[in-house]
Amino acid sequence: MPDRPAPFQLALLNHKGGTGKTTLAFNLAAALAQRDSTLLVDLDAQGSALQWAAQGGEPLPMRVQAAHPLPPAADAAEPTAFVVWDCPPAIDSPQVLALLARLDWVLVPVLPSPVDLWASWHLVRLLQQASSGNPGLRAAFVINQAEPDSALTAAMHQALREFGLPVLTTVVRRRAIYRSAALGGQAVQMLGRRGAAATAELEALIEEILK
Ligand SMILES: Nc1ncnc2c1ncn2[C@@H]1O[C@H](COP(=O)(O)OP(=O)(O)OP(=O)(O)O)[C@@H](O)[C@H]1O
Ligand SMILES: [Mg+2]
Repeated sequence: MPDRPAPFQLALLNHKGGTGKTTLAFNLAAALAQRDSTLLVDLDAQGSALQWAAQGGEPLPMRVQAAHPLPPAADAAEPTAFVVWDCPPAIDSPQVLALLARLDWVLVPVLPSPVDLWASWHLVRLLQQASSGNPGLRAAFVINQAEPDSALTAAMHQALREFGLPVLTTVVRRRAIYRSAALGGQAVQMLGRRGAAATAELEALIEEILK
């Protein structure tokens, strides 16, 4: 079998719960699948991404699978250009540490609240340690559930910069469509005009990651 190029691997990681890891993993995987074959791996024992995928009747643009055992993505049976990992709200597990050694990108969703930031130092240190074993690893914060208040978003960008981890310029707004898409087992891009604004911000996010 000819060698396939290694897939681009992106994980959504934050030990804080409810920051949008699954929401962004699911929707980013669907958006990446517009470009090339994509696998979404649910690393979380809660199985939220798998449940999300099981809700809808419509076929999804990406493959979705559980991570037991941790899939050797580069040798996946089907060609895979992008692997998106939905991580549990934990960062010290052996699975997450093993994953950090082979990822290209870690996206850390944070809510626009100082309380959510205070918990981030541990994660930033872990990512710095992971970079010494995986020098190609890139990581950034992304603000999720941003309100249309530019002063607050600017203050968040400023506060996040103190952690020494880049912050993506694109912010993900708080939008009901992200919740209704999950209810229907869909990604926002599958919802036509109703999902257009959310789809556009995810595209901007992908552009920042892949540039
Ligand atoms: N941008 C958004 N706009 C509106 N609702 C959102 C947005 N992002 C996430 N949510 C909602 O916030 C809640 C938490 O999101 P999600 O489950 O993606 O977080 P998580 O980090 O995966 O949580 P956990 O740590 O439990 O795995 C969900 O109800 C989700 O629908
Ligand atoms: Mg989750």
